[in-house]
Amino acid sequence: LQGTVALVTGGASGLGRGTVERFVKQGAKVIIGDLPVSKGKTVADELGEANTVFAPMDITSESDVQAALDLTKQRFGKLDVLVNAAGIAMAFKTYNSNKKIPHSLEDFTKIIQVNTIGTFNVIRLSVSLMIENSPNQDGQKGVIVNTASVAAFDGQIGQAAYAASKGAVVGMTLPIARDLSKDGIRVVTIAPGLFDTPLLKALPEKVRIFLAKTIPFPQRLGNPDEYAMLAQHIIENPLLNGEIIRLDGALRMQA
Ligand SMILES: NC(=O)c1ccc[n+]([C@@H]2O[C@H](COP(=O)([O-])OP(=O)(O)OC[C@H]3O[C@@H](n4cnc5c(N)ncnc54)[C@H](O)[C@@H]3O)[C@@H](O)[C@H]2O)c1
Repeated sequence: LQGTVALVTGGASGLGRGTVERFVKQGAKVIIGDLPVSKGKTVADELGEANTVFAPMDITSESDVQAALDLTKQRFGKLDVLVNAAGIAMAFKTYNSNKKIPHSLEDFTKIIQVNTIGTFNVIRLSVSLMIENSPNQDGQKGVIVNTASVAAFDGQIGQAAYAASKGAVVGMTLPIARDLSKDGIRVVTIAPGLFDTPLLKALPEKVRIFLAKTIPFPQRLGNPDEYAMLAQHIIENPLLNGEIIRLDGALRMQA
């Protein structure tokens, strides 16, 4: 990744942060795109301003993302890679029969807005910077890595909204790869299983241990660097395109 410039959304925490740390170790320059309230600035300070810059942004905002891309160009001169790792999770049943209330439409909309529309927003705007790159011997100008979830395939009780938002990321992967093929940009989506991140740390230890036991092998939560290793491989392997890769220790979630 020496000399590669990458924008990592959600780069202040969890899978995104693991990616930022690995990419910097491998010689990349990284823009940490995350909410203004996130730890983006702290992470950037730790990794050093020669290698990273924090771009405060909401992935659902056109002007925020455009400002992050302007900063990318100004600081590092180009954009080779986009890793979409920003996302949110929440769990509600379609209808809560104890409380007699249906799933809030506002919550459903919010999760689609961030996970699906936010991801697409960053992709569509990043392309304009990537296509300025000189092509390599294959004609490649950039690589986009998205983050779905195994919930896109086997969503659990309470995951209607989350699974729909991630299913949409899975569904858009091939058409975007086809759309961008003439521009020399590859698009691949990772569908993580259960990873040890702040998103999961919100659960009680008992639940985390239970969840880990549902994974066939290895029987533990994934660590963010294992996600980052796959993101790196996707960037380095020129033939990977238009594909969804599960990274889950053979986990198939039960209802
Ligand atoms: N942890 C897991 O087990 C797991 C499993 C499957 C999929 N995922 C997905 O991986 C991605 C990363 O999850 P994580 O576990 O690292 O979570 P995390 O909460 O540790 O990190 C997510 C980051 O995204 C940022 N973010 C949220 N909304 C944003 C917005 N609108 N604009 C910009 N940044 C925003 C947050 O501030 C945070 O820093 C998410 O899309 C999540 O759905 C995680």
